Amino acid sequence: MNTAPRPDQDHSGHSKPQGFSEPQAIKGVPLLDLNRQYLPLQEEFAAALRQVCQTGQFVLGPQVTELEKAIGAYCQTPHAIGCASGSDALLLALMALDIGPGDEVILPSLTFFATASAVTRLGATPRFADIDRATYNISPASVAALMGTNTRAIIPVHLFGQCAAMDELRRIAERSGVAIVEDAAQAIGAEFNGRRAGSMGQIGCLSFYPTKNLGGAGDGGMLTTCRDDLADRLRLLRGHGMRPRYYHKEVGINSRLDSFQAAVLNVKLPHLDQWTAQRQTHAAHYTTLFGQRGLDRVLGLPRSQAGCRHVWNQYVIRVPDGRRDELREHLVQARVGSEIYYPLGLHQQECFRYLGYRAGDLPETERAAAEVLALPIFPELTAEEQHQVVETIASYFGVERGHALPEPKFLSRGERKSADAR
Ligand SMILES: Cc1ncc(COP(=O)(O)O)c(C=O)c1O
Repeated sequence: MNTAPRPDQDHSGHSKPQGFSEPQAIKGVPLLDLNRQYLPLQEEFAAALRQVCQTGQFVLGPQVTELEKAIGAYCQTPHAIGCASGSDALLLALMALDIGPGDEVILPSLTFFATASAVTRLGATPRFADIDRATYNISPASVAALMGTNTRAIIPVHLFGQCAAMDELRRIAERSGVAIVEDAAQAIGAEFNGRRAGSMGQIGCLSFYPTKNLGGAGDGGMLTTCRDDLADRLRLLRGHGMRPRYYHKEVGINSRLDSFQAAVLNVKLPHLDQWTAQRQTHAAHYTTLFGQRGLDRVLGLPRSQAGCRHVWNQYVIRVPDGRRDELREHLVQARVGSEIYYPLGLHQQECFRYLGYRAGDLPETERAAAEVLALPIFPELTAEEQHQVVETIASYFGVERGHALPEPKFLSRGERKSADAR
């Protein structure tokens, strides 16, 4: 099997930030083009980076303190603690909650690997929950069914930029006295009934990986919390448990945010709400365009749940009837970027085989893994590019320019069945 990353991917499976080195090389519509965000701000970035050099504090310098204050305010939490990545944020959160061998942590199977590896790295056991079909987020009913005497924490992942059902999840957690760690890596600024992602559990975890809504120029992450004791512990743990210098209270890790990253993110943060508004406009535009061509009858389109602020890190459609991979190949031929988040549920990953899951154990997750396809939705995407994406998909389904798919009465029984199921 060829496991080499495709040209638009890096080795961690993230879609590779495109455009920094060869902005003209990509024709068609890129899945993501960071160059368009970088260029208008390049002078500000240069000045901010120069300032870091002048202060000479390259790790946890004043830029990091400034960013921690700003992110805390943005996420509605009194504390925000910078660290080296979103993956480390998850690990540190579980360390601060003393999760270890014998403990079970409930999390969705449809998520990035780091949500689960944080659990196993501490010797605890992940219990994978199924997802809600409409939102792709962890299903509270599935969580409730997995709660047991060894359950110590639940990790809802606010997938694709939309919050999980935090009211129900909080009720379940509070009933049993277990902690909630929010994986908000894809959802900075998302809201559930007015509460920001990262402010609703004991600890929230953010990622500043370049493809995220607030992306740095490298790796970076942050922890958010309303609890003074956890904030203090997290600060200790990210710096080798050292306090004061060269006296170690406990064994922590080295996971500090560097000042270059913080400087870049301080320049970008004031623009985040505008970028989010652009993403929201693009999502609405896709929905209109797909509707106009009648494609909403063959595709499952993503929707924002009532009471939620969806920040659209991804616009993910469902392509039923086993046609997803063929459609994706059609998009590749037309040079339209797309991605599959995620081709396998984590319960089906080779490294978690020892947990004993079998095919069919998490049906909604497995169905999503076979059907999901993310389309370009970065803020600077143009209306013409969106049109091109939709026209390319329309041409795959045989819908000619200026026409729409026929009404459902013309659909085959199989197509009707799958449309009803959506
Ligand atoms: C849901 C989720 N959790 C955790 C992470 C890990 O973040 P990072 O790449 O910054 O380590 C990511 C990033 O890809 C993610 O999407």
